[in-house]
Parts: sequence; C-alpha cells; structure tokens
Amino acid sequence: MSARPQDSNRKRISLPTLAEMKATGEPIVMVTAYDHPSAQVVEEAGVDIVLVGDSAAMTVLGYDSTVPVGMDEMLMLAAAVRRGLTTPLLVGDMPFGSYEQSNEHAVANAQRFVKEAGCDAVKLERGGASVDRARAIIRAGIPVMGHVGLTPQTATALGGYKAQGKTAGRASQIAEEALALQAAGCFAIVFEAVPAAVTEALMPRMETPVIGIGAGADTDGQVLVFHDLLGIFGGHAAKFVKRYADVRGEMVRGVAAYADEVRSGVFPGAEHIYSIDPAELAEFRAYLAHEAPPGSGTFSHADWDWGP
Ligand code: KIV
Repeated sequence: MSARPQDSNRKRISLPTLAEMKATGEPIVMVTAYDHPSAQVVEEAGVDIVLVGDSAAMTVLGYDSTVPVGMDEMLMLAAAVRRGLTTPLLVGDMPFGSYEQSNEHAVANAQRFVKEAGCDAVKLERGGASVDRARAIIRAGIPVMGHVGLTPQTATALGGYKAQGKTAGRASQIAEEALALQAAGCFAIVFEAVPAAVTEALMPRMETPVIGIGAGADTDGQVLVFHDLLGIFGGHAAKFVKRYADVRGEMVRGVAAYADEVRSGVFPGAEHIYSIDPAELAEFRAYLAHEAPPGSGTFSHADWDWGP
C-alpha cells in the first residue's frame, strides 16, 4: 500500500490511502524536506508524507526559532521540494503569522501553497482559533493537517521547547484540541512531545490518522525532521530524535579532505583536467609570445569567437 524504496509501481499517496493505512494498522512514515535534493532522497527512500516544515527556519535558514520565517521563504522551499517529488503527499507548513488573523487570510495563504508551490495540503498549529481556520481552509477545498502538544510557533507561551500534557489539565486541553481538529475535518493530526501514556489513552478516540513526534509508539505514524534524523543539524537535538546517520560529519570530512588536497597540490589530478591538441597549443603559445601576428595565416583573431 504505502511507498517503499523497492516498489517500482508506486502509487501517489492520497488522503484515502492514509485513511486506509490507519484502518489496516500500516504505519505512516512522514519526514520533512526543504529543497530539491532532499525531496529526491525522501522520494527514493519511499516515505508516505513529506512536510515542508517551518522547522526550515532553523535547519536551513539559520533563524533561532520557527517564528521569523515568512510565506515567501516557505513557498520557495516548497516549490523546490515539489519539483523533486512524485509519490508522497506534500504538505506545506503555514508559518507563524500566515493564518491567525482571519479565516480569509488563512485561506488565501493556504491557496498560495497549493497554487504557487504545488502542495497537496497544508499544516497549521494549535487548537482554539486554529480550528476555525482549519475548517475554513478545508471548506475552500484544501486538506489540512493539525498539530497539537508542543507547537513550536508558540513555544514561549508554552514555557519553552518541552513536553506538553504532563498534567491531567494540560493533557485534557490537548485532547480537546485534537478532537476539535478532527471534528473540523483535518485529514491527519501531529502530536508533538506528548507523554506516550497520554497518546495511548487518547488514541481510541482518534478516527483521524495521528502522526507522532515524541508522542510514543501508539500513533498511526511517525515524523522526524530530515536534518535531525540524518545528523545534518548541528544544534541541540530533542529527546525524541533518533539519528540514523552522521551526514554532517561526513560533509565536514569531505570538505576538509578537499581543502587539504587543494593546499597540498594533490587536487586537481590528471583525471580532472582537459586536454588540447598539441598543434593548437603550439599556435596558442605562439600567439602569447607574439610570434605569429594576426593575419599571418597561422593564427587569426577571426578564429576566435569574440561574441556579438
Ligand atoms: O516544522 C516541522 O518540521 C514540524 C514537524 C516537526 C512536525 O512541524
């Protein structure tokens, strides 16, 4: 059913595919991507959902939180991912400030993700007013993914980047938000940094696929940030991150080896250089030495393509 690297006849992942995966208990694999090469990598690896997350603010744009990233930056990244992707469902993450103001503003920005970047769906954070925004966007024909628990766009109000739902009161609030987003028609909901036992208790109420990140093993799927799972991001990694590679270390090793070889004269080697016919070279040398004046027959400036 879902896309796997070995599948030669992969079908595009659709919303019914995801609902069916939940129904049959097949885990949904979601990952972020922010550019064309990372999109090609996740396509080839056979994931089900690709999120152009606003985590791009920190992983690729160098901001110190997800708050500053804007619509134009997100659209440029999402369009690059679209060009590298065919099979997974592509979700654009609505950045902070792009949907809070009004339903109309939220719908207009969601439409930009679909029209300008080719996204299949959008994601927005929190319950409360975001439930109205989600409903309005869905009514406008664009599928919406919800996001509850630790919502990084409002991390300051939540007391920082830490697990949510560790008290009965806060767990109930997360449950209410998730159920409201489900009732609004979200096709999936991300649970971030929620105690596994809270997720487990809530899952029987969830008809919509739940994708966890630091929410335990009882969700319908998992999501990780591309740069975290591959070890590209140099910053602090959250407890829920598992590193599957040390790509940053490999990149530093590669660039350092190149620098060493340039400095020691090993690079470029014979296999990296272009050759020239010896007669042409001799003529060129003669030109440099002014041994063959223009028009002498041996060499003419007319032989050169000087352009218009
Ligand atoms: O922006 C992001 O990468 C996310 C995922 C962590 C779900 O929202």
